[in-house]
Amino acid sequence: MVARAVGKSLPHDSAHLHVSGQAAYTDDLPEPRDLLHLAVGMSTVAHASVRDLDLSNVLAAEGVVDTCTAADIPGENNYGSIVKDDPLLADGLVQYVGQPLFVVAAETVDAARKAAHKVTVDYDELEAILDPLTAVEKQSFVLPSETLKRGDPDAALEAAPHRLRRRVSLGGQDQFYLEGQIAMAIPQEDGGILVYSSTQHPDEVQGIVAHATQRDAKDVVVICRRMGGAFGGKESQAALIGCIAALAADKTGRPCKLRLDRDDDMIMTGKRHDFVIDYDVGFDDDGRILGIDFEFAARCGMSADLSGPVNDRAMFHCDNAYYLENVRILSHRCKTNTVSNTAFRGFGGPQGMFAIECVIDDIARTLGKDPLAVRRQNFYGTEDRNVTHYQQVVEDNIADELFDRLLASSDYPERRKSIHAFNAESQVLKRGIAITPVKFGISFTSTLLNQAGALVHVYKDGTVLLNHGGTEMGQGLYVKVAQVVADELGISIERVRTTAADTSKVPNASATAASSGSDMNGKAAQKAAAKIRKRITAFAARHYGVSEAEIDFRDDVAHIASRVMDFPELVQLAWANRVSLSATGYYRTPKINYDRTTFTGRPFYYFAYGAAVTEIVVDTLTGENRVLRADILHDCGDSLNPAVDLGQVEGGYVQGVGWLTSEELWWNDKGDLGTHAPSTYKIPTCSDLAPDFRVELLQNSANREKTIYRSKAVGEPPLMLGLSAFFALRDAIADADRALPDLQAPATPEAILRALQGGGDE
Ligand code: MTE
Ligand code: MOS
Repeated sequence: MVARAVGKSLPHDSAHLHVSGQAAYTDDLPEPRDLLHLAVGMSTVAHASVRDLDLSNVLAAEGVVDTCTAADIPGENNYGSIVKDDPLLADGLVQYVGQPLFVVAAETVDAARKAAHKVTVDYDELEAILDPLTAVEKQSFVLPSETLKRGDPDAALEAAPHRLRRRVSLGGQDQFYLEGQIAMAIPQEDGGILVYSSTQHPDEVQGIVAHATQRDAKDVVVICRRMGGAFGGKESQAALIGCIAALAADKTGRPCKLRLDRDDDMIMTGKRHDFVIDYDVGFDDDGRILGIDFEFAARCGMSADLSGPVNDRAMFHCDNAYYLENVRILSHRCKTNTVSNTAFRGFGGPQGMFAIECVIDDIARTLGKDPLAVRRQNFYGTEDRNVTHYQQVVEDNIADELFDRLLASSDYPERRKSIHAFNAESQVLKRGIAITPVKFGISFTSTLLNQAGALVHVYKDGTVLLNHGGTEMGQGLYVKVAQVVADELGISIERVRTTAADTSKVPNASATAASSGSDMNGKAAQKAAAKIRKRITAFAARHYGVSEAEIDFRDDVAHIASRVMDFPELVQLAWANRVSLSATGYYRTPKINYDRTTFTGRPFYYFAYGAAVTEIVVDTLTGENRVLRADILHDCGDSLNPAVDLGQVEGGYVQGVGWLTSEELWWNDKGDLGTHAPSTYKIPTCSDLAPDFRVELLQNSANREKTIYRSKAVGEPPLMLGLSAFFALRDAIADADRALPDLQAPATPEAILRALQGGGDE
């Protein structure tokens, strides 16, 4: 029997360190001698020109060593990677409450934070646009509006037997990584700089630090061993933190660390985009959608950041698992005087999917049908009705199959009946149930980002050091890639150590994002390991005079025809015979291509699928509610590591439920974020978990594409399983006499009460 690592439920490579407090996050690294601590002074107004910034009291404060403003930036004052509209430090114009204005460097964290408040700023306030609808009205956009169209939606709408027009809205979401944004910059000899950064994208931090500090890329090294969560929040915006640390280090000549306070982190850095969605849908008596017109208004905040691709993904995912024959989507990328929104697990996909699921639910309730039936009416086909609105053929559709299995395993039909019976008897408590599908496109929509590199060393003692461009944020990427490398070399995983993501080892790496970390880095590392295996094999064949076909590595042993030898022994021999034992690997995702100007092509290598059934109970007097039971069936292809994947599915679902129910971002009429700490911003806790939580990975579902061991990406898709909780809430409200509930997300108790009491009975 060959003991393989791939496919096994191995623990996260750092699990023992996480639970014992020994895992070193950026703030745990030994602090260099002379380290200075930084704090950021932030704008207190949403939109103003800055007449005067008086830092004299800041500089005079105890422990303060220096300050930096925009004027101190030698290079480019920007960290926007796609559009250069993101100043590191505001230069004369502030565009949101929380925008960095200046930096204080002091001997202690406390001294820096205290001093930052001693600034005097003279603002000349300008009109602020604080919400997406006002932005649309005033045509205030960070990027031009986009339209994606297929068929003839106008004619289809005209001809449809039924038509419904509604507006729904969904809220944003804070990433709420447990480890906040942080970076430490350490000057190196001869003009170099080393930045430890909690980032999903070390390569981008490297590039932006280089531009801001007027260096070449070769003079900047960025390292990240692990993040305490990122969820998209450290994809683009970690560069701001890294740059501030680097700028201060350059100015003071001392190592500098910036660790944002939680409140500052929530105020200063971007979140999930909230959307207002208008739709106009035409459908037949069975609930089949004949034509649909969507208008999306997304709050992008004050700059473009990743809003272009986030909103593109929302457009690509407003079909979810449904065939939309005649469709138009108009997508506005609204510029508001609020923090610049950014990546968050799902990257716009959840917003698009929310939109279509609302439409489906509304159609069902209008026709008096179970939404389940309307969902099935609209699913993509396998032979026909299988081309997306962006012209990609859905080749791997398993939505129907997933539904069949989950409906049976969750006992949905019976529970549906018993819930109606319960509600008929129960005055105050109402239950609801919903099943929703997930179909999520895997690949970066920007084709060029779909490439990855790896570096593998085999040492003389047969142990392996693995490095790749991917970053570890808790998702288990490192253990998965190590499993792949162990199997490629036929050795036990204990022989493999993965080192920190490091721009000096693997260059030009894409962000660890779009869920493609293990797909891409797994392949790149496999290729690197394969090169070394082939070299050792060729050497052994020559050395022992056997054919390469007679050589095999498995279970830490090299089998060379009839000869058996420990792997380290053969490695030692290969080294002694001058065989190179180090290699790089490179991978680019095949088959994808897509034309951004027409929004057509194959942006995604494949789709990941899942389905969830959630049952919920609502107190109709208070709006309070809880999930009673959740059943999930999720498709990870042939999972690289079922334990890790199960964790991703559970965590993703819970995070999705949080987004749609309890997590509410609230700004006042001055653009001040009121919810900037866990006291006011409610993320789900362990006690919010469904007491009956049944999660399964779909078995025997090898990816039809040649991904790494036929697995499927799993990082983001499960978040959208949380939609089932929102629609279970709608179901409960519908059963409480609101035939067509007017429930907006997040469905906080207040929103639920509004839906129960207010309109919706159209
Ligand atoms: N899981 C944990 N524990 N922490 C995280 O920050 N980020 C999610 C997801 N799962 C995240 C996570 C996001 S937004 C993405 S894109 C993927 O992990 C990235 O990792 P992968 O590509 O290796 O799946
Ligand atoms: Mo994930 S939102 O792609 O970082």
